[in-house]
Formats: sequence, structure tokens, C-alpha cells
Amino acid sequence: MLAYSYTQYGSPDVLEKVEVPSPTPKPNEVLVRIQATTVSAGDWRARSLTMPKGLGFMGRLVFGLRGPRKPILGTEFSGVIEAVGAEVTNYQPGDAVIGFPGATFGAHAEFITMPANGKLTMKPDNISFEHAAAIPFGSTTAYDFLVNKAKLQKGETVLINGASGSVGSACVQIAKHLGAHVTAVCSGKNAEMIRAVGAIRVIDYRTHDVIEEGIEYDMVIDTVGTLPWVQAQHAVRSGGKMVLIAGKTSDMLPGGLKARLKGKRMVGGVASEHRKILEAVVKLAAQGELQPVIDRSYAFDDMKAAHAHVDTGHKKGNVIVSVSQSDAKHCTPSLHLGAA
Ligand SMILES: NC(=O)c1ccc[n+]([C@@H]2O[C@H](COP(=O)([O-])OP(=O)(O)OC[C@H]3O[C@@H](n4cnc5c(N)ncnc54)[C@H](OP(=O)(O)O)[C@@H]3O)[C@@H](O)[C@H]2O)c1
Repeated sequence: MLAYSYTQYGSPDVLEKVEVPSPTPKPNEVLVRIQATTVSAGDWRARSLTMPKGLGFMGRLVFGLRGPRKPILGTEFSGVIEAVGAEVTNYQPGDAVIGFPGATFGAHAEFITMPANGKLTMKPDNISFEHAAAIPFGSTTAYDFLVNKAKLQKGETVLINGASGSVGSACVQIAKHLGAHVTAVCSGKNAEMIRAVGAIRVIDYRTHDVIEEGIEYDMVIDTVGTLPWVQAQHAVRSGGKMVLIAGKTSDMLPGGLKARLKGKRMVGGVASEHRKILEAVVKLAAQGELQPVIDRSYAFDDMKAAHAHVDTGHKKGNVIVSVSQSDAKHCTPSLHLGAA
């Protein structure tokens, strides 16, 4: 199969299109022919080893000390089951699926294997392969932080910094779905798009200072890392929460204590990649409550250009890479593999 591989950290030029053997599913795994994937912030961090200040060594521990441990990037995909292992009963060849390898990567390739009970779910018929591929990374992060970790409530006011990114645009939609009142922070060129997905107010960070406005919110969410606690605390009401999806290490580590001393709470950490969260956001997407924002789509041959666009730090929602031009209906289901 064709895949993009890298052996050293760096710019998009470290990526190489290579021919490697297709993976073979174990008895409990499925083999998926990938239709579409994305270049996510996770791919950008793992490829370039760009980490929040103070977490550089942690990045090497996670992604590989001397060089990348996982040679094929790609955190999310949509595709069609090509073959299933002997013990698999919940999928069959021909099923259209959405997968979230997340931190295990591997989706920048024509095929991937996934545990049948892993972070995989059926693709609803009313969602295209392109949109489906863009659901897992941003939406599961937003859902886990807003619903599970920060427990955003109906009627609460929320300020979302970085609202036009993959995570931010999903945060806006999930917050709206929960019945919260969303003020979004992004550049002016994205204001209309962000209003369309649910923000009642948009602040252009290039012309306005959200802190100087003097408004307090029940919850302030930073998805960019440009709202340090020293400033953000003024926008969090007493008893309110600061949610750090991206932020400075100095805020993340002692943050809980700093916030409590001010009678506020800090919520941070790493988003869970559990299958149930993937299922929850795919259900919302099927119901039309959540639609991943698509910036642009690239052909598989243009993977480096897709990475270069993500490297600008100003993508709008999600950047898609079409891996296979074939439609699910045209994929020939192959054999149910015997026991390995
Ligand atoms: N904690 C976790 O477990 C977890 C999980 C997933 C992701 N993350 C982190 O979350 C962050 C966001 O991920 P993502 O996928 O949403 O990234 P992304 O899509 O690349 O975010 C890009 C967005 O950031 C906005 N932006 C850039 N500078 C800004 C500024 N100064 N103020 C406000 N907005 C600004 C841009 O908006 P404009 O173009 O309008 O300027 C752009 O739309 C990444 O750092 C990622 O590593 C953390």
C-alpha cells in the first residue's frame, strides 16, 4: 500500500510517500480501506515536535526519543471495511466506518488495521466520507472537555478562544447543543462561519482584547494557548471554570491551585479517546447537531501541502486528505480472514 512515512522530526519535507506492505488484521481486528483522513494538530505536533513551552522533553518521550516511534501519521479516518479477523462479529466487509487511531496514528495510508472493539464506529449514511473523517479529533476533544471534564450546563455563558480551529469549532457546536451561550474568539475573517455554527457573539482577537472588555463568563475555554491564567482569570466569574485544552505548562501544572486560591476552578489534562465518546459525537453529527467545519481538501499526492497549510496555525476547522477516490458502494468486500 501507499503511505506517508517520516524518520525525523521537522517541516512537511520530512514526509515521504512510500510503498509498504498492507497490514494484516489479527483475529480481533478489522482491515479498513481508508477513504479520507485529515492533517490534525496532533499530526503537526508529532511531525514537527512542536510542544507547549516546557514540554519539549515530554514530546520526545511520547513521540520517540531519537526520532519518530510511529512512522505513519494520521489520527482519524473514514473508510470501508476490507476484511475482518476470525473473531470479529460486529463488522463485516463493506461496512462504512469512522476510526480514531488518535495517539497511535497510522491513518495517512491506504489501509489501516483497528481492533474491532476499539475506537471505531459505523459511519451514518447521511454523513459523507470527507465530513466523517473530520469528526473524531476535534469533536471528541471538545465533547470530553465540555461534557465529561468541565460539565458545562444549560444556560451558562462560555467564552471559547480559538473558536475557528478543529477543536474550537466543535466546542462552539457542542456548547450550543448543551444550551450554553457562546462568545467566540477568532479572527474577523472567520466570524460569519462561527456565528453560523452557534456563537451568539464573536470577538476578533486581532482588534479587541477579550479581557479588557471586563465581561465575566461561567466558563472560559482556551484551545490555542494564548489566554494565560494571569489574564484569563479576570474573565472567569467567581466559582466559574477555566478550561485549558491548550495552554502554558506553567498554567497547566500548578493551575488548579492558582485558580482555587481565587475561588475559581481550572480544568485541564489530556482528552480521553474512548470509543463511547466517538460514538456520542458521531450520533450528534448524524442528528445534525454537529457538523465538522471543513477548510479545504487535498489529494493524497498533496499530503505535504496539506501539512504546510496546517503549519500556518490558521486552518479553519479541519483539513481533509482524500485517500481513495472510490465510493463505498464500489468497494469489493473481500474475504473473512481465518484465524491467524
Ligand atoms: N488537551 C488535549 O488533550 C488536546 C486534544 C486535542 C488538541 N489539543 C490541542 O488543542 C489545540 C487546538 O487544536 P486544533 O485542532 O483546534 O488546532 P487548529 O485547528 O490548528 O487551530 C487553529 C485555529 O487557531 C486559531 N488561532 C490562532 N491564533 C489565535 C489567537 N491568537 N487567538 C485566537 N485564535 C487563534 C486560528 O484562528 P484564526 O485563523 O481565526 O486566527 C485557527 O482557526 C492544539 O494545540 C492541540 O495540540 C489538546
